[in-house]
Amino acid sequence: MKELDGKVAVVTGAGSGIGRGMALAFAEAGMHVVVADIEPDSARSTAGEAEAFGREAIWHETDVTDRASLGGLADRVYDAFGETHILCNNAGVTTFGMMTEPLSDSDWDWVLSVNLHGVVNGLQAFLPRMLAQPGEKHIVNTASIAGLMPTPLVGPYVASKYAVVGLTETLRLEGAGAGLGCTVLCPGNVRTRLADSDRNRPGGPAGEPSPATDYLAAAIEAGADPIEVGRRVRRAVEDDDLYVFTHAEHRNLLAARFESILASFDKWTGDEVPA
Ligand SMILES: NC(=O)c1ccc[n+]([C@@H]2O[C@H](COP(=O)([O-])OP(=O)(O)OC[C@H]3O[C@@H](n4cnc5c(N)ncnc54)[C@H](O)[C@@H]3O)[C@@H](O)[C@H]2O)c1
Repeated sequence: MKELDGKVAVVTGAGSGIGRGMALAFAEAGMHVVVADIEPDSARSTAGEAEAFGREAIWHETDVTDRASLGGLADRVYDAFGETHILCNNAGVTTFGMMTEPLSDSDWDWVLSVNLHGVVNGLQAFLPRMLAQPGEKHIVNTASIAGLMPTPLVGPYVASKYAVVGLTETLRLEGAGAGLGCTVLCPGNVRTRLADSDRNRPGGPAGEPSPATDYLAAAIEAGADPIEVGRRVRRAVEDDDLYVFTHAEHRNLLAARFESILASFDKWTGDEVPA
């Protein structure tokens, strides 16, 4: 989608971090922006910043785990603008701790409900109307580099992000003939409030934080600038790129995983399984 000026972008989880970065990057390019977040104050604040670029920006309190809430967001967007050119399913959370500790049922349920079902709910609410529109449209799903490689201490997060990578790759194949572009964002550490995800956990923070929390929080704090990540996403939409990455140091880890998969593949397919 080469021309963004005057078009409409919807971003979930845009009150903070990477979502805010995307919303501002799209506003910077002359887009109308819809800021959706479970935190109304931060959503309002990002919308105010986006409006300063000169186009319309609205905010909408949205819980991505709730399909009806996403439906309400889509109704609001189509009432206000009549179309959605870019939908970014970005809201996400994480817990910290080893699966062997073990994790609680609620750790699993909460992370999957936001990071995976949140993306699914966004697609269910918006895709039919987007596909019915003439012209180009684009879906951006936020996964993580942890959606492409094993990452200790964040098991449910990894499970959710692998799923988001897979569904985005598949949607891109299915949507190509319908003018639908798809991008999956796979960043490394970005300086956001992700380590403080518990602030939005239903029922409040769950007990004592894992000892892993401080270590991972420090890595996130030392991470990339979320505004620059937002601008990368904008460039990926303009170029219709499938993947967006942020950190060169992950290349060797990705290569090691792909090589080990292929080595196993070659081992097991050296002789065919009898029919
Ligand atoms: N920060 C990183 O290092 C990093 C790396 C890779 C991927 N990501 C991904 O980036 C995305 C954005 O996270 P971030 O790092 O900017 O963190 P963040 O906490 O700064 O922003 C996440 C936003 O999502 C919102 N949110 C949480 N639960 C919600 C819900 N149920 N419904 C609607 N909104 C909800 C929060 O209020 C917040 O504004 C996530 O999907 C995350 O997994 C982050």
